[in-house]
Order: sequence, then structure tokens, then C-alpha cells
Amino acid sequence: MSMGRYAASTDPEAGRDGDGAVLLRSPSGATARVSLHGGQVVSWKNDRGDELLFTSSKAIMKPPKAMRGGIPICFPQFGNCGTLERHGFARNRMWALDEEHPGLSRSDSGSRSLVDLILKPSEEDQKSWPHSFEFRLRISLTKDGDLSLVSRIRNVNGKPFSFSFAYHTYLSVSDISEVRIEGLETLDYLDNLSQRERHTEQGDAITFESEVDRVYVSSPNVIAVLDHEKKRTFVIRKDGLPDTVVWNPWEKKAKTMADFGDEEYKQTLCVDAAAAERPITLRPGEEWTGRLELSAVPSTNCSDHLDQPGIM
Ligand code: BG6
Repeated sequence: MSMGRYAASTDPEAGRDGDGAVLLRSPSGATARVSLHGGQVVSWKNDRGDELLFTSSKAIMKPPKAMRGGIPICFPQFGNCGTLERHGFARNRMWALDEEHPGLSRSDSGSRSLVDLILKPSEEDQKSWPHSFEFRLRISLTKDGDLSLVSRIRNVNGKPFSFSFAYHTYLSVSDISEVRIEGLETLDYLDNLSQRERHTEQGDAITFESEVDRVYVSSPNVIAVLDHEKKRTFVIRKDGLPDTVVWNPWEKKAKTMADFGDEEYKQTLCVDAAAAERPITLRPGEEWTGRLELSAVPSTNCSDHLDQPGIM
């Protein structure tokens, strides 16, 4: 498999039952591993080699389903809000390396380690979702080791279509009881645990003591997930994605999940940049872009990052 000019390489060690994976490495020594199955980031490590994304010890590492952990891509449907399988089919499909990557600046390739992937619908996909699209996904590591995902979805059909979307991000945390989220404090959320009933947060930073499955609507483009025990803060930046989904299955639900350890709910928190409340509609020829950038910084430094309003 040729990676051409990219500072990326195929990684024979990372093969998932022969499906292959791509290893990205930043100048600082951070790494990310990307599976062609699902276009899923399956590992992101800092320059000390600490894994920053969660993978279940019970994860099933072969197709057809997405493995439990990393960053599965939810498209063209988030959750069960539609007629498709939960979270849509993109996370369960084989993606291809995209040799063309039209429209994206190549100047990136000097300072970033990156890979471009593409997904087009199969005939089978079009039976359940009768639309034509090109989904281009660029995954890159900045020189400092931040992880960036840029999705561009183009309608190549003769009629409009709508979709929902999420970067379903399984962060690795020391202990869920030591974690809090800042940036969602006064927002409205739809509670998936009670038929998407709408509630409003009362102003405190969000902490965890039971199952949570919420869509925070119209959330800010920068939020932080603080892990006290690890003294680490994840700074999550998004663009083009109005919502933030927060999910932890907690103990009872964890026990019903075959590919998730009974106690593993303590070690992860899903915080997804998403377009979940309202679908995105593309007319023929139109293209949508949704970006996610993740940094992991020592907690003492995180206020500097939160002061920055924009993204990328
Ligand atoms: C979350 C949903 O995003 O993903 C939950 O809000 C769901 O309802 C969870 O249980 C995991 O989904 P799956 O299909 O990967 O088991």
C-alpha cells in the first residue's frame, strides 16, 4: 500500500485480521493508529507513549462491527433516530486510501503526519439509504501531537439528503468519579435515558455518578474534560458540529454489553462532537465539513487552551 508523500506508514503490527491500519507519528513522538475498517482511530498516544483513547479489553478486533473504543464515525445516522442500524453504517465499512484529496491544502503535509481516507456507498448501503455521497476523512497529528479529524461529505446525487453525525470519542480516564466536564454548564440537553426529554443544566461543572446519555445542544466549540487523578485535561475543539454527546453506560448497562468489561465504565467517558439534534441537509453538489481537534495537556495548563475561542 503506497502512502506517497505523506508522513504516514502502513503498520504491519497493527493489522486487524489482515485489514491493515495506518500509523501516524508526529515529530514530538506522539502516534495515532487508524484502521481502514470504519476509518476509525483506534489509538492515540502522547510523546511519552501514554494511550489517550480507551479500548475495551473485550473489544472485537475484526469486522463486521466497529471495535469498542477509539473514535468510531457515526454516519449517516446518529443513535437510533432513523431507520438504519444504530449510529449508521460508516463505522462498519471498509474505507479506502484517498489518493486525490481534492480541495484540501497540501501545505499541511510538511508539518503534519496525515492520512486521507474515502468512503463511498455500496449498492447494499444504497438499498437502505438511497443516496450517493463521497465522504472524505483526513486524520492528522500536529507537530505537538494533537489529533485532528476533518470530515467532508459531498452530495453527488441528483436530490437532497439529510444525515446526522458524530465523532464517537472514547476518552481514556483514570476513574470516572475523578472526571468533570467544563463548558456545558448552563446548556439544554436531550436525555436519551428518557425519550430525549429536554432539560437544562443548572450551572455546575458536569460530574458522574450514574449512567449518562445526553445530547447537549448548541454547545460551545471548545470544552474541557478534566481528569483530576491523572492531572490531565482533554481540550476538545469542534467546528461545523453544533452538539456534544456525553455517554457513560455505568455498571448495569456495562454488564449487558458483550464487548465491554463489567468494570470498564470507570475507565472511559465518551464525549462526541456531533450533529445530532437537527440533521444536516445537503443539496445536489453541496459539501459539508465537520472538524474535531483533541489535545491532552497537563491540567495546570488547560486554562490557556480554553481561552482560545476558535478551532484550527
Ligand atoms: C451512545 C449512545 O452515543 O452510543 C448510546 O447515546 C449507545 O445510546 C452508545 O448505547 C453505544 O452504542 P453502540 O452501538 O456502539 O453500542
